[in-house]
Amino acid sequence: MRNRRITILDTTLRDGEQSPGIALSPDEKVEIAHALDALGVDVIEAGFAVSSPGDFEGVRAVAAAVSRPTVASLSRTRHEDLDAAVEALAVARGRTRVHIVLATSPIHMEFKLGLEPDEVVAQARDSVAYVHGRVDEVEFACEDATRSDPAFVAEVCRAAIEAGATTVNLPDTVGYSLPDEYASFVAEVRRLCPELDRVALAVHCHDDLGLAVANTLAGVRAGASQVECTVNGIGERAGVAALEEVAMALRVRSDAYDYETGIDPSRIGHASRLVSELTGYAVQPNKAIVGANAFAHEAGIHQDGMLKHAGTYQIMDPEELGLTMTLPLGKHSGRHAFRRAVTEAGMSPSEDELAAAFARFKLLADAGLDVTLTDAFEEVAA
Ligand code: KIV
Ligand code: ZN
Repeated sequence: MRNRRITILDTTLRDGEQSPGIALSPDEKVEIAHALDALGVDVIEAGFAVSSPGDFEGVRAVAAAVSRPTVASLSRTRHEDLDAAVEALAVARGRTRVHIVLATSPIHMEFKLGLEPDEVVAQARDSVAYVHGRVDEVEFACEDATRSDPAFVAEVCRAAIEAGATTVNLPDTVGYSLPDEYASFVAEVRRLCPELDRVALAVHCHDDLGLAVANTLAGVRAGASQVECTVNGIGERAGVAALEEVAMALRVRSDAYDYETGIDPSRIGHASRLVSELTGYAVQPNKAIVGANAFAHEAGIHQDGMLKHAGTYQIMDPEELGLTMTLPLGKHSGRHAFRRAVTEAGMSPSEDELAAAFARFKLLADAGLDVTLTDAFEEVAA
C-alpha cells in the first residue's frame, strides 16, 4: 500500500515516565502535551490513570488542555482501572481513548497473570465491551505479543475487535524481536485475523537490543498504521522507539517508505529539549537526530567538505529541525574550520599569525586539551 498516513501515538507521558526516577507533575505533563500538540502527534498517551492520584490528575489535566490530538490513558482489564481511565478523560476537549493492556505470552499468562488462555480471551472481550461507548476509541494491546503464539494473538485480537476495539496493538514489550521476525509476526497475525484490516494496527517496540526503531519501521512495512514512540526514546528499561528517529526515517527515506506522518520537523528540537529538561534525562551526545553531536563535524576532511557543500556529510538540514550545525575545533579539525572560527570570532590575524596559531592549536589539542582560540593565539600574540 502506498502513501499510507501513519498515526503517531506518543507515549512520552506514560511509557516515557516509567523510566526510573521520572515523575512529572500534571503541570509538567500539560507543558509537554502542548509541545507534542505543536509537534503534530495524533494521540497523546497521557498516563495510567489508576496508577496514582498524581497520574489521574495528569491524564485529566492533559485531556482538558489539548483539543486536536486524541488523549489516551492506559488501563489494565480491571473495572476499577477502566473506570478511572474513563473518569480522568471525561473532561476532555477532544477525542478520548482507553488503551487496555493484557498479556498473551505463555510466560506472562502463567507466571504474572495466573490465567488460562481462554480466560485471557474472555478478559479481552469483556474489558473492551466494558468501556466501549464510554470513550471515543478503545485500543487493545496484546502485551508481550512477540513472545506469544500468533494463532492465539489472532484469537485475542478478534475478540477485542468484536467487542469494539478501534486499534489493536502488537507490542514487542521486551525488545526481543529482530526486524524481519517482527515483520513476519505482524503479517502472520494479520493473515490469521483478517478483521484487523477493519481497525488500526499499532506497533510498540522496546529498545532492549537497540532495535526499537528498526522493528517499528519493519512493522509499518508489514501493515501497521500506528506507531508508538517517545520523544528522545525514553521509556521502560532501554526505552521505546524514538519519535524523532521514526519520523525522520520516514521523511528522509520517503523514497523507500512512502508513508506520511503529521509530524512537523521544525518542532523536534524544542520537544526534545523540553522533555530532557522536565524529566532530568540528558540526551546522549551521539543520539541520532537530537544529540548534541548529531550535526557536529569535527574531522578536518569532514569540516572541509561541509564548508564546500552541506550535503557532503549531512542527510538532513538541522535548521529544519530547530537545531544547528557546528564545526567544533578538536584534534582532528582542519585549517579551513580553524580559519572560519577565527573569522567568526571577529579576529583578523595575518596569514603568518594564523599559521602559527593553528600549529599551536594542533599541539595543544593533540595533548587532549580543550583548546580555545585565545589559547591558540596566546603565544603568537606574545
Ligand atoms: O511495552 C508494552 O507492552 C506496553 C504496553 C502497555 C502497550 O507499554
Ligand atoms: Zn511499552
